[in-house]
Amino acid sequence: MRAAGLSARTALALLLLAGAGLSAAASSSAPPLFNVSLDAAPELRWLPTLQHFDRDFLRAAMAHIIGANVPKWVLALIRKAVWELELFLPQPFTDEIRGQCDALNFNLADCILLNLAYESTAFCTSIVAQDSKGNVYHGRNLDYSFGNFLRNLTVDVQFIKNGQIAFTGTTFIGYVGLWTGQSPHKFTVSGDERDKGWWWENMIAALFQRHSPVSWLIRTTLSESENFEAAVYKLAKTPLIADVYYIVGGTSPREGVVITRNRDGPADIWPLDPLNGAWFRVETNYDHWKPVPKRDDRRTPAIKALNAMGQANLSLETLFQLHSLYYGNECCQPRQVHD
Ligand SMILES: *[C@@H]1O[C@H](CO)[C@@H](O)[C@H](O)[C@H]1NC(C)=O
Ligand SMILES: *[C@@H]1O[C@H](CO)[C@@H](O)[C@H](O)[C@H]1NC(C)=O
Ligand SMILES: *[C@@H]1O[C@H](CO)[C@@H](O)[C@H](O)[C@H]1NC(C)=O
Repeated sequence: MRAAGLSARTALALLLLAGAGLSAAASSSAPPLFNVSLDAAPELRWLPTLQHFDRDFLRAAMAHIIGANVPKWVLALIRKAVWELELFLPQPFTDEIRGQCDALNFNLADCILLNLAYESTAFCTSIVAQDSKGNVYHGRNLDYSFGNFLRNLTVDVQFIKNGQIAFTGTTFIGYVGLWTGQSPHKFTVSGDERDKGWWWENMIAALFQRHSPVSWLIRTTLSESENFEAAVYKLAKTPLIADVYYIVGGTSPREGVVITRNRDGPADIWPLDPLNGAWFRVETNYDHWKPVPKRDDRRTPAIKALNAMGQANLSLETLFQLHSLYYGNECCQPRQVHD
């Protein structure tokens, strides 16, 4: 069991849980760490990392994920429209995908779809919380809804700019977006799926309007935003291809927020309010102002556990325990394909 992506421990701590099952998590080792240099051309920058993975395994994983997630009509449509779609997708992501895809001799449409398919399945829990001293912590469970494939493809990445670590994140090999990341000494971001149905239909329409995939916006924000406030603004306002929850933590007291996103803009902004007792915010995959469905209530156990623990006991270690003990096993429910 481990906490990935831990750094900048001064005031800001990001906790990632790799693994849903407790025993599995207890025996799993750290994902491998790689540098990806943003100083290299987008087509080339992932290739040194890619070399560490077996091509046949990657092909099998891709077939499995696309087969389980992408409706046939979408696959046919994207294969036909791929050259046009490429023009609409934001850089450097498209070139990064193409570079990896060419190196592996895979079909570009499939590689793009792989990068979009996960958008509809990030089914997880994020917590942002502030301790009694004003330190902000941010924890999340990582989703392994594609079975062991994603577990084996998980990597921690340090994105290098001008020879320095510009930001870090955890992702899956071949997947250029980030669902979890940290800009050292500035802010942390995690994303949780917000499913409103008609996912593929809406996503394709939005893609052609040049909206951003949700995991790409996390990466762009980590790369470009100077501080917590700028990050929250960007994550709240930038048009997206799908609804999502963004959870953001900062380096100063009260810098913690859950942003509920519609495709076009924010539906709700829910900050920490420690002066009035709200020292944590829990976001799973449901709007916080509505009741959670009984069949998938990961919110109530998390809130109970945090209250039982108490603000004074909040630390990386206790947050980590809470993530794994109280609802880790229920993190990754099987998802329904929107067909
Ligand atoms: C993932 O890796 C583990 C350990 O190397 C291996 O036992 C398992 O079979 C792999 N899973 C898949 C789906 O290949
Ligand atoms: C990654 O880059 C950093 C900064 O240049 C360097 O200190 C570190 O040794 C590199 N790590 C790896 C695994 O290459
Ligand atoms: C919180 O910390 C206090 C003091 O260290 C301890 O007595 C108490 O048992 C802790 N509570 C929990 C739920 O860990």
